[in-house]
Amino acid sequence: MRASRAEAEPAPFELSLLGGPWGRRLAPRRRWIDELPWGEAPALVAAATPTVRQVWTSTAFSEYASAAAFAEIAAALLAAGAPIDLVAAAGDFVVDELVHTEAAARVAAAVGGAVALEVDLGRLVRPPDATAPLLAAAELVVRTSCVGEALTVPVLKRGRDLAGSALIEQALAAIIADEASHAQLGWWFLDWAAERLDDDDRAHLGRVAGHALRGFAPLLTAGSCAPSGLGALGCADYDPAFARAAARHVARPLAARGIAVPAADLRAVGADLDPEPSRAA
Ligand SMILES: [Fe+2]
Ligand SMILES: [Fe+2]
Repeated sequence: MRASRAEAEPAPFELSLLGGPWGRRLAPRRRWIDELPWGEAPALVAAATPTVRQVWTSTAFSEYASAAAFAEIAAALLAAGAPIDLVAAAGDFVVDELVHTEAAARVAAAVGGAVALEVDLGRLVRPPDATAPLLAAAELVVRTSCVGEALTVPVLKRGRDLAGSALIEQALAAIIADEASHAQLGWWFLDWAAERLDDDDRAHLGRVAGHALRGFAPLLTAGSCAPSGLGALGCADYDPAFARAAARHVARPLAARGIAVPAADLRAVGADLDPEPSRAA
């Protein structure tokens, strides 16, 4: 008997492309991947450690999960009656994330091959606790855009600066260029929703952000306490970048919108909130 979605079992993480009209439709968005300097690959295979292969495999899966998150966000924004240009952007970000998925999978192949990864595709996105459409959408947006994407940008920039490879530097630069607007969607959504959220909602969103911060800290560090390079970040490079980003790019812009991340959550990820919040994201 076929397992239902709720009973889905972990299965190997695999990707495929169908081609035909669907390949042609996607071609302009993924063209940059083909233009990366893949001739560097043989040298990378020799230089890459198992950690590097694991980091790029995990990155491919994280990008796939981000596609699922923006698909959920687009549906939630529709249910909340959000401005249609914002909804369209969320839908379009699904495509960005799928292109990032392919790019990361191809880099994993270039550094010696992806590692085996068991995943449960039925559980890519944690459902929101709130049932009211606006607050449910806000939960998803805070978790993905205001925390996940906002942290990703500075951490990936550090990875790009320390890559030591033209191929990986260019791949990360292309991904970073998209992730910045993925984070911005969160701040624009919260500003649009501000008048519709009350103090209880904002307190709830602060707890959601704190929980998400704790969740991202080990996710992004997983397996990367080896030396930095080829997209991997060692703890000495990762931890300060994460703590700074948590304070400057997550807690501070949330505080400027009346959403306080619990101090215990900030302490848990080593973040120190500047006493002078600014509205800048
Ligand atoms: Fe991405
Ligand atoms: Fe993203």
